[in-house]
Amino acid sequence: MEPQSPFKPDTLRGKTALVTGGGSGIGLEITRQLGLHGAKVVISGRREQVLRDACQTLGGDGITAAFVQGDVRRYEDCERMAGEAVARFGRLDILVNCAAGNFLSPAEQLSSNGFRTVMEIDALGTFNMSRAAFAALKSSGDAIIINISMTLHYGATWWQAHASAAKAAVDSLTRSLGLEWGHYGIRTAGVAPGPIEGTAGMSKLAPGSDAAAAVLQKVNSSIPLGHMGRRWDIAMACLFLCSPAASFVTGHTLVVDGAEWMYKPSL
Ligand code: HXC
Repeated sequence: MEPQSPFKPDTLRGKTALVTGGGSGIGLEITRQLGLHGAKVVISGRREQVLRDACQTLGGDGITAAFVQGDVRRYEDCERMAGEAVARFGRLDILVNCAAGNFLSPAEQLSSNGFRTVMEIDALGTFNMSRAAFAALKSSGDAIIINISMTLHYGATWWQAHASAAKAAVDSLTRSLGLEWGHYGIRTAGVAPGPIEGTAGMSKLAPGSDAAAAVLQKVNSSIPLGHMGRRWDIAMACLFLCSPAASFVTGHTLVVDGAEWMYKPSL
């Protein structure tokens, strides 16, 4: 059963949120929790049917939701996404850059286009969307951008050269926009999930963790809290950052990983 939210249901009343990659996985749960706490939500992604289905699910939870099909690699699509949020709901206060692409590939087998593709979805996409939403977020006067990151680039991770480079760029953008846009009333923060059960990230990067007990046990034993996170945990971190409780937090990436990234076995 889903845990009860510690936040009041009207925490985000009057706010509008746009979540890229909001049609599935972690992005959908972030969207759902923003909506359940009072925000009107717009989701974007590349697959129209996925977005349509997600909107129906959100509507079933009593959430006011709309979708825009588009690709964050194209600036004109990002302008359309931000424009749609303002056209539908009159304002834009929360932008969650969740769209991402990833796969495992040894660096020596990774093509130039493979590297570029992930850089463009994650890093360029985060810049494009933030830049395209800037005017609307500035008009809000109390806005936040949340960049969904990861922890695999804190050291180095096998077969993740492309995604590590891309998310390092995303974290850098979180700091730069935190620095430059604070005086416009726009905070910028990141959330770096660790292993989250039932996500595309886990099935791509730790194949078998959904089903195979041995793989699951190996993943869990490298997490000091002893278990994988839930999509809910990431959504709650985002809610905290959007809430007035985080009104002095900007330029920072919050790690939500049960301390997995710094785990070392005991001697
Ligand atoms: C090697 C690959 C590859 C693979 C694609 N490429 N998959 N190379 N191994 N498994 C290469 C292709 O060969 C091609 O290069 C280039 O990448 C572009 O591939 P396309 O399929 O044309 O691109 P596109 O259709 O835009 O798809 C993008 C994608 C795709 C990233 C490849 O997987 C995607 O969009 N996924 C979105 C969902 C997703 O991945 N979510 C998981 C995020 S998890 P060539 O040279 O052949 O042209 C995450 C954090 C995880 O981000 C952290 C967990 C702890």
